Amino acid sequence: MRFVATFVLFFSFMMFGCWKNNTGDLEDISYVPNPVDIEVPEGFPVMPIPSSNPITAEGVELGRRLFYDELLSEDFSMSCSSCHLPVGSFTDNEAVSKGIDGIAGKRSSMSLLNIGYADNGLFWDGRSTTLEEQALVPVEDPIELHTSWPTVVERVKQHQTYPELFRKAFGIKDRDEISKELVAKALAQFQRTLVSSGNAKYDRWIRNEAEFTDEEFLGYVLFFDLDPNVKDAECGHCHNAPLFNTDDYFNNGIEPIENLSDFPDRGRAEVTGDEFDAGRFRAPTLRNITLTGPYMHDGRFQTLEEVVDHYNSGGHFQANKDPLIRPLQLLNHEKEALISFIHTLTDSTFIETPQFQDPN
Ligand code: HEC
Ligand code: HEC
Repeated sequence: MRFVATFVLFFSFMMFGCWKNNTGDLEDISYVPNPVDIEVPEGFPVMPIPSSNPITAEGVELGRRLFYDELLSEDFSMSCSSCHLPVGSFTDNEAVSKGIDGIAGKRSSMSLLNIGYADNGLFWDGRSTTLEEQALVPVEDPIELHTSWPTVVERVKQHQTYPELFRKAFGIKDRDEISKELVAKALAQFQRTLVSSGNAKYDRWIRNEAEFTDEEFLGYVLFFDLDPNVKDAECGHCHNAPLFNTDDYFNNGIEPIENLSDFPDRGRAEVTGDEFDAGRFRAPTLRNITLTGPYMHDGRFQTLEEVVDHYNSGGHFQANKDPLIRPLQLLNHEKEALISFIHTLTDSTFIETPQFQDPN
């Protein structure tokens, strides 16, 4: 009896000891976060940063490691970067993305260039509102990383270096405070740093540091409708400078169907439930568009030539097709000029920026 009592006592000391060791296990690591100001090219708006997730060097570094880490997928085979690769301006250059089970989704991966500015919904249909909310989706999506948050959080807690990095980024005292919300915050911080370098030819031209060829200049005038004697290609209304997007939802007439109920992907209507939003998608940035093909939400067009031919045709009619999508009557040399101008939006410095690459 005495033996049992001693054992119980001993055992509870052990338990208490372990339990005690596990609370505040990170407290000895210093927490001195370094705030980061996101630098943006001249003429860009100030990027909105939520006060609930201020950007720090430590948070960005942690987010970068997580972004490239395959422990975010069930079988350790894929990370965020598998579908968002720097070389493709953070797309995967596939028509539609495939997840860890090799199952193809219905949509094309989106560029993360200047993603911190998106303030009217994320995804092609705008179903997430913030980067913090969006980052929770791919981990559990069955056609993406296909795992569960409890699994990922447990892996991160047991990891050799992550608990320390979470301490440095968020000041947690114990690894048990690691949560999916903190993982998402770190991912969001890293993604907000993915800003244009300002070295695209267009940006240098705006600053008088580069010259446009006559062809590029004609494309620029067509794109923004700057000369009454030159045709209007209407592009600038929906892909407006300086970000070359509008963060709004349009039907740009790519679908050869007659009725709003026939869209194979209902797009914005899946979020709003409004039939009139069927086939409307977010107008994405055209910056680095030369690097992100194939094009549109389902990757249906392989080349920019096909895209411009589509707009030139006026697209397929539905009741909600935007009136700016109309036959443009562009001649071959005008179509080529438009494409030459679009090439001036390519920012190779951005995709090569060392701080954006896989840290491993
Ligand atoms: C299997 C491929 C795949 C993986 C893995 C993946 N994504 Fe994506 N991502 C996509 C696709 C496809 C879309 C567009 C989906 C849609 O609109 O429904 C997208 C959209 C996004 C967007 C919205 C961009 C915008 O302009 O609205 C963000 C942000 C994003 N992903 C970040 C991430 C992060 C962070 C991770 C890792 C946690 C991740 N993605 C993992 C394929 C992937
Ligand atoms: C009425 C608004 C509107 C106008 C005008 C418009 N676009 Fe778009 N654009 C969109 C929308 C919306 C999408 C996304 C549609 C989708 O994926 O289904 C898009 C997609 C694109 C894409 C593919 C983007 C990607 O990431 O895959 C390119 C390239 C493009 N537009 C170029 C142009 C050019 C060039 C012009 C002028 C000739 C133009 N757009 C005029 C709204 C517009």
